[in-house]
Amino acid sequence: MAGKLIIGNWKMNTRAQSAQSLLDALLEQPACDQPWVGVAAPAVYLAALGARLQGRAIRLAAQDVSAFASDGAYTGEVSAAMLQDIGCAYVLVGHSERRQYFAESNPQLLAKMNNAMAAGLVPVLCVGETLEQREQGSYLAVIHQQLSILADIAAGEYLIAYEPVWAIGTGKVATLEQIAEIHSAIKTWCLQNAKPSASIRVLYGGSVKAENAESILMTDNVDGALVGGASLDAGSFRMICQAA
Ligand code: G3P
Repeated sequence: MAGKLIIGNWKMNTRAQSAQSLLDALLEQPACDQPWVGVAAPAVYLAALGARLQGRAIRLAAQDVSAFASDGAYTGEVSAAMLQDIGCAYVLVGHSERRQYFAESNPQLLAKMNNAMAAGLVPVLCVGETLEQREQGSYLAVIHQQLSILADIAAGEYLIAYEPVWAIGTGKVATLEQIAEIHSAIKTWCLQNAKPSASIRVLYGGSVKAENAESILMTDNVDGALVGGASLDAGSFRMICQAA
């Protein structure tokens, strides 16, 4: 299973001390301190964690980035250049929680993707349908619509994460057939409509745990995992990294 990428999304969790302890626990594990492992920590802790990660293999990731390209009067915003400055390698873009609670739109997400890539970060575009959309059978149309911004991006490196909203934090994992179907559909869409310079890599996210990581990671067209809840426990995250 060489080449799988595992990113832990800590979401709005931890404090300065617990974030350091969690990172330290990961750094003690050879399975975790690898260049194919990333941690997406809360923005306020990124600088301290970035300093701690100097010379280590784990990659730092941000959970969001500003849609504004240049420095200026944008109170509260964190730019792609700032994230790059403190050692981030990746940034999540369009996570379903941001789409849901902050009404992030395709034009904003396109700007975020472009800003991240211009600053040398690798953005991870998150896509996925709600339970209602799945039950109505419109899930592929929804995902294609979310992917559509990629047609407007110049060649460059980015990742895609398929996270069915109904599987996030619910303990309900998509079946391996569902995952394989969507990952294949995402890659087909990208080959036909986008211009990435690197090969298309698609991570799966949604209730990935130590117990199911291996079977998910072995599924066709799954290139890694975006892990929420289980990434807050060093032991569980280590087992997921081991499965990769
Ligand atoms: O970004 C990761 C995510 O939304 C999945 O969360 O807790 O279901 O693993 P969780």
